[in-house]
Amino acid sequence: MEAKVHHLLLLAISILATQLLSSSPSPNTKKFHFNVEWKNITRLCHSKLVLTVNGKFPGPTIAVNEGDNVHVTVTNKVARNTTIHWHGVRQLRSAWADGPAYITQCPIGAGKAYTYKFSVVDQRGTLWWHAHFSWQRASVYGAFIIQPTTPFPFSLPLYTPNIPLIFGEWWNEDVELVENEMMLYGGGPKSSDAYTINGLPGPSYPCSTKDTFVQTIVPGKTYLLRIINAALNDELFFAVANHTLTVVEIDGVYTKPFATPAIMIAPGQTTNVLLTADQSPHPTAMFTMAARPYLTSVFPFNNSTTIAFLKYQNQNPQNLIPPNYSLPQNLPNLEDTLFATHFLNNLRSLASKEFPCNVPKTVDKSVVVTISLNLQDCPANETCRGFQNKRFFASMNNQSFIRPSTSILESHYHNLNVGFSPDFPEKPPFAFNYTGVSPVVENMSPSFGTRVLRLPYGTRLEIVLQDTNFLNPENHPIHVHGHNFFIVGRGFGNFNAAEDPLGYNLVDPPERNTVAVPVGGWAAIRMVADNPGVWFVHCHLEEHTSWGLAVALVVENGREPSQCLLPPPNDLPPCSV
Ligand code: C2O
Repeated sequence: MEAKVHHLLLLAISILATQLLSSSPSPNTKKFHFNVEWKNITRLCHSKLVLTVNGKFPGPTIAVNEGDNVHVTVTNKVARNTTIHWHGVRQLRSAWADGPAYITQCPIGAGKAYTYKFSVVDQRGTLWWHAHFSWQRASVYGAFIIQPTTPFPFSLPLYTPNIPLIFGEWWNEDVELVENEMMLYGGGPKSSDAYTINGLPGPSYPCSTKDTFVQTIVPGKTYLLRIINAALNDELFFAVANHTLTVVEIDGVYTKPFATPAIMIAPGQTTNVLLTADQSPHPTAMFTMAARPYLTSVFPFNNSTTIAFLKYQNQNPQNLIPPNYSLPQNLPNLEDTLFATHFLNNLRSLASKEFPCNVPKTVDKSVVVTISLNLQDCPANETCRGFQNKRFFASMNNQSFIRPSTSILESHYHNLNVGFSPDFPEKPPFAFNYTGVSPVVENMSPSFGTRVLRLPYGTRLEIVLQDTNFLNPENHPIHVHGHNFFIVGRGFGNFNAAEDPLGYNLVDPPERNTVAVPVGGWAAIRMVADNPGVWFVHCHLEEHTSWGLAVALVVENGREPSQCLLPPPNDLPPCSV
């Protein structure tokens, strides 16, 4: 009898324990709720409905600790499809939570919800999140900050005050209409009406002085600026009048600190810099912070400058009202490729014992990928507004990527292999003088399709990204989902397979998730494909993604269970309508 009671008691305890385990999240699970909804917002005296998260523009900051589990429930309250992407979060084995529409999931339909579940493992610093459907990321974006569990590797306390600075673009009209018009007629998109810092254009635009970001700082203190370029189509220079910036982190990876008068930041990239309030403030002026484009394109663009201010705490705000400002003298000019090159060459991984640089010294597979803009003949009886009255497209190895109507990840997971084919070319279909040809004569029309690059688990991969002169040589920020990579080499002109690898940095190359491929040049990146799933690779200039400048990597499962993609969550948005 006694033994029986004892047994029952044990059974009860074990049932209770299982229930506790399954019902209550572990203490380090952070939960967030994102409502995608319209909000009436006014900038430049234009009032319009803007797509937002929780009515905020920019959206809410996600702040978590290294090692946390993160659950974000996204509820779609508008009559449009949507998805959210956690830009730079590795999503180890959790590709279902990555977010790009039709790559890893079908969109969240009107009135539906989906909970993105993932952990932030062995990652720290500044990343960001944004919508990954159509051009919605024009307004649906925010910071994603991972507080480290170990001390900073430079003399800086972990509780250093930090200031997020998110650069964006503002259109006076509905940005989805801008995209639709671009795709309908094949022309270049309308450029934005303003650049913004934390959603505010600042005093250089008409009717905008009241929408200016002002940050108060305390004399003598050092601040960590978390800079994020969320602009749709523009690389940006940024500088602060009279203050030097010390770069310490890029794309959520520590760097060897270096001082610089300004930075160049491409869409998709993040850069953490230290700024010390070491100036004696003028009684009637604040210090100007300014961002303006780094221009390598012939397309219509917005050449304006967005302005924000640093105000020292002891300054009298009454006397400080703009327009009594001037641009920082250290802000590079629009076409300063020399500065951009010099700045990017200064970026180095920390490569310390604690934060090693695990760049593959040898590779299993080398791929060369050309990046091109293209023209397609105008179909009969249609109007085309691209160059020579044709339609613009863009491609990698002459493949212009078409997003399928179902998710590639689902198709891959269920072994259906429909909607895509694993035959993305591993070298350009034709070899020619990529950066020497006349841009207007040679603009090969691309082939269209959904070709992917299939990689066995653990492949050490090198990709040489080669810009071409077709139509317009341009600096392209290429982003890889689900992986960080190392930029082992960069150069101008054509990549030389015999000579250029001799100059690779295999000691402390910068580690990132988005590389700015030099205008009329190349960049070589190396990575280990150690994350099973389907990963979008694309130009983070949104107009180029729309034109097909993209590919997907399919990374197969490894042998160990810990090297396999987890099963799809139950609430994954269904693909059939
Ligand atoms: Cu930040 Cu595929 O994007």
